[in-house]
Amino acid sequence: MRKFAFLIHPLDLDDVVNFEKKAAGKPVALIKKMLLWMCEKPPFIGSHIIGITSKTGRKAEGWFITVPLLPEQMREHPELAQRKILEAIDIAKELGASIVGLGGFTSIAVNGGLSIAKQSALPITTGNAYTVAAAVNGTKKAARLMGIRLSKAKLVVVGATGSIGRACSEILAPEVAEIVLVGRRQRALELQVNKLKELAVVSASTDIKKALEGADIVISATSDANTIIDVADFESGTVVCDVAQPPDVSKSVLKERNDILVFDGGIIKIPGRKIKRESRFDYDFRLKPDKYAYACMSETMILCLEGIKENFDMGSVRVSNVEKISRFAMKHGFKLAGFRSFGERITRDKIKEIRKNAALNSNKKWFYRVRRMLKYSKLG
Ligand SMILES: NC(=O)c1ccc[n+]([C@@H]2O[C@H](COP(=O)([O-])OP(=O)(O)OC[C@H]3O[C@@H](n4cnc5c(N)ncnc54)[C@H](OP(=O)(O)O)[C@@H]3O)[C@@H](O)[C@H]2O)c1
Repeated sequence: MRKFAFLIHPLDLDDVVNFEKKAAGKPVALIKKMLLWMCEKPPFIGSHIIGITSKTGRKAEGWFITVPLLPEQMREHPELAQRKILEAIDIAKELGASIVGLGGFTSIAVNGGLSIAKQSALPITTGNAYTVAAAVNGTKKAARLMGIRLSKAKLVVVGATGSIGRACSEILAPEVAEIVLVGRRQRALELQVNKLKELAVVSASTDIKKALEGADIVISATSDANTIIDVADFESGTVVCDVAQPPDVSKSVLKERNDILVFDGGIIKIPGRKIKRESRFDYDFRLKPDKYAYACMSETMILCLEGIKENFDMGSVRVSNVEKISRFAMKHGFKLAGFRSFGERITRDKIKEIRKNAALNSNKKWFYRVRRMLKYSKLG
């Protein structure tokens, strides 16, 4: 049996309440203080996953170890965050893990693993390479289902100077008609534009609202702890892959927009018939049933099954690592799960409905056929 560990943490206050029901309705400042008190004790095991079985027959189990800090607290207390992450890796070693994945902000807090590479008791990975593979493949599939042709489409990548955003841009730039890179630092954006200008019609913007004008496809992967995209700014029919954890797009999209396809990036179906996740503290990482996992978790499982004993994906994602992890994923039987939005399944019928609503609200060429069909069915 091969063993891995993956570090998790509460992404927002809802997660804290999931873990500790008494936190419900308490002031944010008190909840944050409570989490800092929890840091006086060692990180703890949130859940244990068993039954992962590769296509090759190899088996794995793993532990999700909780660092009890919110994303903004990791920013406010970087040294504490780093210390707790290293403590969690020590616990993983005691459990017999061969590799540790840095989930959510535990990766961002230690600069994609680079700041702790020397002190870590075990090999680490950010899980970002497989997240990129899943986001790119999911986006292509969603665009196809919405009738959008990549080669004629405008793609906007938000968080394009980050590890995931940069790799997604590099892979997709040669395949789209136009790409707009969005970030906060003009200089970093310009460097990225220079890198891609041979491959595509590329521009940069620090203004999300403006960049979204005319966008057909959006990939969002920022490290902002808050939602940063106003759902009113998406044009009808836009396909949006929200990779960020916590998400960049507000949950209000579920109620306010029935004409855009927003899906959670990087959700994977794990191989194995008897996968079971036992949660000791009822701490939920928002994916049900147990056979689904985020791509970053899946990357850790894949590397464990493959027997990789060195750091895999540190700092910025390399496209060569995206290719490598995709090959390993296929070998072990990991696959893209169907589309989900804020954890809820999006069925094919739902996508058809979104496409129909987009055709009613938008003049874009993608929806011409659906628009015509709707017109004739009305006349009939
Ligand atoms: N779904 C999954 O399986 C999965 C797996 C791994 C990671 N993730 C999530 O993916 C996201 C990105 O991770 P990463 O490792 O690529 O992080 P990263 O390397 O730190 O990059 C994040 C980027 O977001 C930019 N950014 C932050 N706030 C912004 C804002 N308000 N507007 C525009 N750009 C902004 C940053 O720009 P600056 O340079 O200006 O700071 C940075 O370039 C995180 O939310 C992470 O939790 C998801």
